[in-house]
Amino acid sequence: MDRKVKGARYVEGEIRVGGDKSISHRALMLSGMAEGESVVRGLSGAQDVLSTLASLQRLGVATERHGRTVRIVGKGLSGLEIPDGVDPIVLDCGNSGTTARLLTGMLAGAGVRARLVGDRSLSSRPMKRVIDPLCRFGARIEHRGGCLPLTIQGGKLGAIRYTVPVPSAQVKTSLILASMFVEGESVIDEKILTRDHTERLLTAMCAQFSREPLGTGQRITIEGNKALSPLDIEVPGDISSAVFFIVLALIVPGSRIVVRNVGLNPTRARILTVFERMGGELNTTIETGDPEPSGTVFARSSTLSGTEVSGREIPLIIDEIPALACAALFAEGETVVRDARELRVKESDRIEAVCDMVRRFGGEAEAREDGFTVKGGASIGNALVESRGDHRIAMAASVLACAASGTSTIRNAECVSVSCPEFFDLIESIVR
Ligand code: S3P
Repeated sequence: MDRKVKGARYVEGEIRVGGDKSISHRALMLSGMAEGESVVRGLSGAQDVLSTLASLQRLGVATERHGRTVRIVGKGLSGLEIPDGVDPIVLDCGNSGTTARLLTGMLAGAGVRARLVGDRSLSSRPMKRVIDPLCRFGARIEHRGGCLPLTIQGGKLGAIRYTVPVPSAQVKTSLILASMFVEGESVIDEKILTRDHTERLLTAMCAQFSREPLGTGQRITIEGNKALSPLDIEVPGDISSAVFFIVLALIVPGSRIVVRNVGLNPTRARILTVFERMGGELNTTIETGDPEPSGTVFARSSTLSGTEVSGREIPLIIDEIPALACAALFAEGETVVRDARELRVKESDRIEAVCDMVRRFGGEAEAREDGFTVKGGASIGNALVESRGDHRIAMAASVLACAASGTSTIRNAECVSVSCPEFFDLIESIVR
């Protein structure tokens, strides 16, 4: 579906975005592994999360959904099963890397035979980062050149001792989920801290595990095969969705918006610090903190200057880099992104996609192997942008379209539903 987006005079209003996608995936999977009935309120309605929910249902986890509230009857650590006569069970992960990588760990740990499939984009994304460590500790996994479809062959895992080589919360979580089923103590190290939603949920579920700082990262030690208590959680709004509305308010003159009930976990909300460093006028208030900090963000149009992001900051803003590129185009000077090679293997090659998007709106961008540079301050015209089926590119292009003059066209804009089905309704509610 093509979407026409008109330039706005200004944006104004108060919004709430849907529940955080990363927390929603984890809350569902961990609830499926718990003893007893969990309640997850404010679950994300994102397609990716629905892929996780449907997979758990296929695995025999009973769920009852009323709007954004889901009740999940946990199967415990020994109850996940293959329906009679279906071997291996086929689970469709859709477009969702998180579903595929986390389920691989969970099913390898549980010893369930299953075949994971996904759409064309997901079937070209790297899975060896979870397959290799899981196989090293006893899993048997067949795959197609390191990608989906893959078949987990069952079998028993031994305790895991592993240092995650690429900063990835998905890999870390996949191994944590596997180790929950394993007898004895597993130790998972990460050299650079990544989003810590899994760890926070495990604390809320009274898991037997500990975290300790390790250089610039952390060590996680898990005592496996110990029952998880059920979860009762209110999922805050997704900061990775909210950031598109925040950046829109920053770059369109005369704008102001308030985003309520949004997740402000420091391993996710770093983009707000980056915007402030660029001169963004934001006001952030944390209102609740357990298990996830959340609160209100107020943003108003600002005079921005370019910045550089690299190193340890990258994993904390990895999903927000397309939104950062929107701010960069309206900032004085250059914005440089380094050490972000990972962007090449997201839902699209986001280094190429972002640079192409910027150029189509009339800006200058230079791609490098591990990042890009955007030159700010160009005058922005309307554009035709291909989303490449990547939700975050579709949303970034829509933000630039609102900030540009005339009417722009976003090709295949329906992919926003992968993370933020409410995106265009929210845009319409704030553009003037
Ligand atoms: C996610 C982790 C990130 C992120 C993805 C969601 C998660 O991926 O890009 O959208 O929920 O763990 P990596 O951990 O592979 O960097």
